[in-house]
Amino acid sequence: MMKEPFTLIGTAFHTPERGRLEVLEDHLFSVDEQGRIAEVLAPGHPDYAARESDARRAGTLVLLGDGQFLLPGLVDLHIHAPQWPQMGKALDVPLEVWLRKYTFPLEARFADLDYAREVYADLVDNLLANGTTTALYFATVHVEASLALAEICLEKGQRALVGKVAMDDPEQCPPFYRDADAASAVADTRLFIEAVKALDSSTRPLVQPVITPRFIPSCTDAALHGLGELATEFGCHVQTHCSESDWAKAFVEDRFGSTDAASLEGFGLLTRHTILAHSNFIDGQDMDLIKEKGAGIAHCPLSNIYFANAAFPLRAALDRHMHVGLGTDISGGYSPSLFDGCRHALSASRMLQSGVHAALPASERGAPGEPITHQEAFWLATAGGAEALDLPTGSFRVGHEFDALLIDTRAKASNIHINADDTIEDVFQKIVLNAGRANIVSVWVGGRMVVG
Ligand code: GUN
Ligand code: FE
Repeated sequence: MMKEPFTLIGTAFHTPERGRLEVLEDHLFSVDEQGRIAEVLAPGHPDYAARESDARRAGTLVLLGDGQFLLPGLVDLHIHAPQWPQMGKALDVPLEVWLRKYTFPLEARFADLDYAREVYADLVDNLLANGTTTALYFATVHVEASLALAEICLEKGQRALVGKVAMDDPEQCPPFYRDADAASAVADTRLFIEAVKALDSSTRPLVQPVITPRFIPSCTDAALHGLGELATEFGCHVQTHCSESDWAKAFVEDRFGSTDAASLEGFGLLTRHTILAHSNFIDGQDMDLIKEKGAGIAHCPLSNIYFANAAFPLRAALDRHMHVGLGTDISGGYSPSLFDGCRHALSASRMLQSGVHAALPASERGAPGEPITHQEAFWLATAGGAEALDLPTGSFRVGHEFDALLIDTRAKASNIHINADDTIEDVFQKIVLNAGRANIVSVWVGGRMVVG
């Protein structure tokens, strides 16, 4: 899609490499007609003044005001779109009970296309308003409703990777909510992939299909095998839940005598374009395998508090230079905000590293290693997630998509309070720790303004 090019001048924060904050003070960003970043110029660059005056003359200059900052758009690496109506409730039981008691009945309602469209439109509006410019979605088993989610993302301008969920095992999935059998789970996934590709056939599509076995317990061997063949045939993204809880991990090990990661690899489902949600209980060997395949992990710290029974070993994964990003896991997590995601990741990491049991001496209380920093948390929510997806977004590099948030620290109802003695690095930290929806005044995806 051709768009109107524009030029933006202001101060931007980004973390192009893990843990390294780069402050681009008063920089000039040129966005081309493809919605990509064509130039990033520092003040004093020989072309800066000419670009500025050209844009001013053309009426395409955007100037950030006092207290306003540019941030890369946020990447949600794991979210269940149909669970939006359930966000903020039904968190009183363990995962395996929650699925049957609340979640499968809710997701079954998406057979109704009108209901699906209404929920999905509201969800995408709300995620964009919270700064989520890219989302990796689980939809439901229904091809039509899942396609409606892809259409709504395309229409509203959110970068999205959407999966029709595959779940065919009658032992684990209720009769009112499952694929009829393995063959139809695979055939419907193929249909869905082809339909999404037909929706957006550009070379840098905004919306892409994802092969989505819900998790090993909900799929038969035949379905997993067939989906693995599709992953090879199409080379598209794959997503699933991996070693999320004691129950889920034990289920897979009882069935296959191997871990989730090793089992997925056996089915051809562990690729450079695979995202494994949670992965709390992966061991060192799993980490090596996931790293070797180049797959990524969607860390969902809030959901983990309710369902995982343990904190994800984030520092260990980062030390191995694995691909990791953040997921809200709505509705296992109750917040749509990836700023909240950063905060929860920071809290979980601090609790894991320092330990939580006050009766133990400090030296025995925690896990080895340092807690993550706020710069690392922000990297997870932006460039880390984008790298895991292998998408050119998440930082302000030339050639990347212009996926960005305009943060106003002085917005009405802001929880960010900047003082005269705050450094520019302090301002960034205050944004990571206190920004909310009220501060997000504009959002761009691929150069298109989708909020503001
Ligand atoms: N495992 C299988 N399905 C789900 C789900 O919907 N949410 C979470 N958190 N874990 C799952
Ligand atoms: Fe999930």
